[in-house]
Amino acid sequence: MPNEGSYEAALARSNKIQEDLKVNPGAYTMLTGDRPTGRLHMGHYFGTIRERVRLQDMGVRTNIIIADYQVITDRDSTGNIADNVMNMVADYLACGIDPERTMVFCHSAVPAANQLMLPFLSLVTEAELLRNPTVKAEQEASGHALTGLLLTYPVHQACDILFCKGNIVPVGRDQLPHIELTRTIARRFNERFGKVFPTVDGLLTSTPLLPGLDGRKMSKSYGNAISLGMTADETAKLIRKSRTDGERTITFDPEGRPGVSALLTTAAVCTGRDEVEIADEIGDAGAGALKKLVTEAVNDYFAPIRARREELLADPGYLAEVLADGNRRANEQANATLDEVRAAMGMVYGA
Ligand code: TRP
Repeated sequence: MPNEGSYEAALARSNKIQEDLKVNPGAYTMLTGDRPTGRLHMGHYFGTIRERVRLQDMGVRTNIIIADYQVITDRDSTGNIADNVMNMVADYLACGIDPERTMVFCHSAVPAANQLMLPFLSLVTEAELLRNPTVKAEQEASGHALTGLLLTYPVHQACDILFCKGNIVPVGRDQLPHIELTRTIARRFNERFGKVFPTVDGLLTSTPLLPGLDGRKMSKSYGNAISLGMTADETAKLIRKSRTDGERTITFDPEGRPGVSALLTTAAVCTGRDEVEIADEIGDAGAGALKKLVTEAVNDYFAPIRARREELLADPGYLAEVLADGNRRANEQANATLDEVRAAMGMVYGA
């Protein structure tokens, strides 16, 4: 038996849940979310958004947090946060998130969820916070000093997950330490004060990470990401100027030919075909032909999503209503959970 905190153990539990979901979707509550620091891109879509829609359509209770307080973990300003939040709601709905079935809400609108931070902070030690590898990596990447909020944001994520009694969180392997911390917090709370919180598991996605157009990690700051909201022309332009290499024959070799291979993977995820098969088909026709194929594949795949996105953005009143309704439902759940927490802790006095 691998130890409970290992990757192998998490993967084994995740595989078991994937099986059980087929017969028992009603036993699961998913929570996940995004930081509203910019626009969602193809990496988000194929990495997680599509999975959220799948879980929603299976009958899992699904919750998506727009993590606005997480924007300031490692930066000084909130930027165009309101615009980012509304675009995010539009992106979700355009991709198939149904606001009737999925609760979409943001941190700053749900005070009782944030208040869980106080008891939860008492359940973790400084050493546990300091050894989180993701926090360290994010702090180094930001070039900022380690703020108190960055150090404690994994605890805040535990609040996000636990206020709505989430028990599954779709994650990549790098996010597992956060899930582990959430499990620890829930377990310690239940041991010390009485059972309020469920056991949380990461749902490890099997889809490999979609690289950016140059083969590096996909990121808006590298200019290698195709956002969902780009027009067909903007998409074509970004693909046209992506770097390939001097070799004419197209082959799939992610190590040796990162640019060409990233383009092949981009076409592959959009068409459901295999990279090697696409490479063989293009053969000596070269990078120009490859780029043409990728552009068509991306633009065909996202055309209906983009059209729906435009319609939604033309009706900001509707988007605001969707978010207000999600916030209202999140507050109901968070207030109920905080009441249970107070009762478990004996903090019920007077009215
Ligand atoms: N940190 C996540 C991201 O940047 C967003 C997020 C906030 C989240 N709270 C969460 C994800 C809770 C999973 C569970 O994308």
